[in-house]
Amino acid sequence: MRRVVSSAPGKIILLGEHAVVYGQPALAVPVQSVRATAEMCEADAGTGLEIHAADLNERFFLKHAPPNAPLGIVTRFVIDKLTLAEPDARLTIRSTIPVAGGMGSGAAVSAAAAQALAAWLGTPLPPADLSALVYEGEKIHHGTPSGIDNTVICFAMPVYFVKGKPPEIFAPKRPFDLLIADTGVRSPTKASVIAVRELWQSDPARYEDIFDHIGQLACDAKKTLEAGDWDRLGVLMNRNQELLRLLGVSSPELEKLIEAALHAGANGAKLSGGGRGGNMIALVARDQVERVRGALIGVGATRVLHSIVE
Ligand code: MEV
Repeated sequence: MRRVVSSAPGKIILLGEHAVVYGQPALAVPVQSVRATAEMCEADAGTGLEIHAADLNERFFLKHAPPNAPLGIVTRFVIDKLTLAEPDARLTIRSTIPVAGGMGSGAAVSAAAAQALAAWLGTPLPPADLSALVYEGEKIHHGTPSGIDNTVICFAMPVYFVKGKPPEIFAPKRPFDLLIADTGVRSPTKASVIAVRELWQSDPARYEDIFDHIGQLACDAKKTLEAGDWDRLGVLMNRNQELLRLLGVSSPELEKLIEAALHAGANGAKLSGGGRGGNMIALVARDQVERVRGALIGVGATRVLHSIVE
């Protein structure tokens, strides 16, 4: 039986979330150890495309897809873009990326599904085209996404990203270690982005100043990564966290994890993604990984991933 499989990684924003929505630069890296996987296989003639989101226990035929179902939207985009007929096939999607945790689960699920379908139809999409297509779906679901999630996930490389510009791929001087700790609090990005937008509308000058500062940190962090100066990178991450607090997107659960990581010896720590829950990241020297991981679990992290960024 014919079968096509495609997968996409999760992602973590190193610096620059939220400000990136307002045109500032941000840095993001893929997290290869958590992934969305999509599998296409043959179905009976005349059935059309059946979509099965296995983890969500959702199953529907594309012709009957609920109008706002992200997987219905993205698969239609693929069929329209390739101007091909809907295939008789089954698309099954699974993901190990935490949902509403700031790790790009929605974009990764869409990317894996779109690529599996495109490959099934004989035309695998290059990263820029896949990213543009996933971005269209993200706009329907998230309102005003910057495009950083679909970009880092579809290119599957570290990116320096400015909204509306082609991404710059960057390479850290040496691999470095991140711990990614989950507060266990689910926090949809959309709500967090809307809350920041309301603050910005209430006092544009004040919040644009904060966005500018965050953008400068992201710009500085790129040079710091390329120079391999992890102490300074930690300082920049901590400053970014101070500014994220001013945007109202930190939370008691995030602060508890950040404090524990820093206390246990992390070089820097901050929330990552939309915030108000979800995940935080800690920059950690290799020989401190187990110590910091223990501290994070000790104060209630529900899951700690170790990711080596290279
Ligand atoms: C979400 O991963 C990052 C945000 O900056 C939103 C966006 O860039 O679209 C919070």
